[in-house]
Amino acid sequence: MAVIKALLLGVTAVSALEWADGTGKLPALGWNSWNAYHCDINETLILDAAKAMVEFGFKDAGYEYVNLDDCWSVKSGRDPETQQLVPDPTRFPNGISGLADQIHQLGFKIGIYSSAGTATCAGYPASIGYESIDAATWAAWGIDYLKYDNCNVPSNWTDKCEACVYSLGVPGEYVNGTCVDPENYCPAGYDYTASNSARRYEIMRDALQAQNRTILYSLCSWGTAGVEQWGNETGNSWRMSYDIQPRFNYVTSILNINSFIVNDVDFWGRPDADMLEVGNTGLTVAEERTHFAFWAAMKSPLLIGTNLNTASDEAKSILLNKYLLAFNQDAVYGAPAKPYKWGINADYTFNETNPAEFWSGDSQQGTLVLMMNTLANNRNMTVGFDEVPHLGAEATYSVLNIWTGEDLGSFTSTITLEVASHDTAALLFTS
Ligand SMILES: *[C@@H]1O[C@H](CO)[C@@H](O)[C@H](O)[C@H]1NC(C)=O
Ligand SMILES: *[C@@H]1O[C@H](CO)[C@@H](O)[C@H](O)[C@H]1NC(C)=O
Ligand SMILES: *[C@@H]1O[C@H](CO)[C@@H](O)[C@H](O)[C@H]1NC(C)=O
Ligand SMILES: *[C@@H]1O[C@H](CO)[C@@H](O)[C@H](O)[C@H]1NC(C)=O
Ligand SMILES: *[C@@H]1O[C@H](CO)[C@@H](O)[C@H](O)[C@H]1NC(C)=O
Ligand SMILES: *[C@@H]1O[C@H](CO)[C@@H](O)[C@H](O)[C@H]1NC(C)=O
Ligand SMILES: *[C@@H]1O[C@H](CO)[C@@H](O)[C@H](O)[C@H]1NC(C)=O
Repeated sequence: MAVIKALLLGVTAVSALEWADGTGKLPALGWNSWNAYHCDINETLILDAAKAMVEFGFKDAGYEYVNLDDCWSVKSGRDPETQQLVPDPTRFPNGISGLADQIHQLGFKIGIYSSAGTATCAGYPASIGYESIDAATWAAWGIDYLKYDNCNVPSNWTDKCEACVYSLGVPGEYVNGTCVDPENYCPAGYDYTASNSARRYEIMRDALQAQNRTILYSLCSWGTAGVEQWGNETGNSWRMSYDIQPRFNYVTSILNINSFIVNDVDFWGRPDADMLEVGNTGLTVAEERTHFAFWAAMKSPLLIGTNLNTASDEAKSILLNKYLLAFNQDAVYGAPAKPYKWGINADYTFNETNPAEFWSGDSQQGTLVLMMNTLANNRNMTVGFDEVPHLGAEATYSVLNIWTGEDLGSFTSTITLEVASHDTAALLFTS
């Protein structure tokens, strides 16, 4: 069903997990239960989420997956005879296959969750050593997507040395995103492609590919073990950081890390900036706009993590922004938007509160420019056309405000806008 394609460019092998039906070429769009409900899930809740996606226009906008996260199975263990994972009979009285049928009838695909360890992060049975059985079980149930976490790795599967991975709020351990104590980490230039972590994720990839079914493979390895070296040939996306929370410093911190790895993004494989918090308590509307604009522009998978029945109208309209969804899903341009100027800090400064503010990217609909105001006060921000890689310095463009759909008119050389604190101006330039 799936093919691994290797393009040899000189001595560098570039390959990706490609599915014959095109699944995984573009970032996944969907919903996941974790950010809104954590372990508190059941069949009714998941079906209600899917129905809300239809009712509020998310299915029509292209959101495709409805994904279960942790806590869907019997916690005490596997079926003693078949060794299969068993759906919790109270939460899922029709099993996962019964839920999958109903999700498919609503026109969605369905995702499931496990960990490349002995137990999931919440302590439920997980897949290491059982990859073939679990992949076959999920295929038989009609599963279309796997999120594969990194908890409870057995001691004989740990790596020889650890990658330096930046973590929010660990003052002193990192300077400019780099570990201050390099002796405790793998040496610079270390090859992680043969690491035990890579192997743990490859075993599940091979098990999924052995099934007669397309199952999009989402690695949740938190940016560890040099995943950027092996993620593209192993999965369709790979988490590049610790978990998000609905606070603006998490948004800017993940965005900051991602700003240094934008060249890892292309068709078939991309860093995953984690599931969306838009709609959840903790972010202002301006911060929700910034969060969604950048996650879409960085071409991260976009998985809604809120209860759409209670989310505000503003949150829903942000998640439905047709220009940002079109940029994220562009079938011609695989590259994401990239920073062209940091703004508050000098270019290429690693800074989690004031990361790169000025970004641009090309798309079929025109050039997208984002200007984020990381300061606590409103501020006038200027697009200098000479600074934007995709714009002509002296050229004239029509500029659209993609939040309102308003045509701002024609501009030559510069355009200046007032941007509220923590908000992002999102503009589309066409000639
Ligand atoms: C499903 O979960 C929701 C939210 O936790 C809860 O209100 C509801 O009672 C649960 N339904 C069943 C059938 O367990
Ligand atoms: C760890 O132990 C398990 C069970 O004995 C074995 O199947 C697996 O191959 C071991 N892992 C490594 C990396 O040697
Ligand atoms: C694979 O699945 C397709 C469509 O579901 C089916 O037509 C085909 O017979 C299956 N092949 C095998 C080998 O099971
Ligand atoms: C991932 O591999 C595919 C080839 O299948 C390639 O088109 C893409 O550019 C690769 N991604 C990166 C970031 O190199
Ligand atoms: C961190 O980066 C900034 C900006 O590039 C630079 O001025 C500073 O010297 C760096 N600090 C260290 C310890 O490398
Ligand atoms: C991040 O940048 C801001 C603005 O330049 C600065 O005040 C702050 O100290 C920086 N944070 C760190 C951890 O260097
Ligand atoms: C932005 O510029 C306009 C026009 O010069 C001015 O009226 C406004 O006060 C400025 N806003 C800020 C926050 O400085």
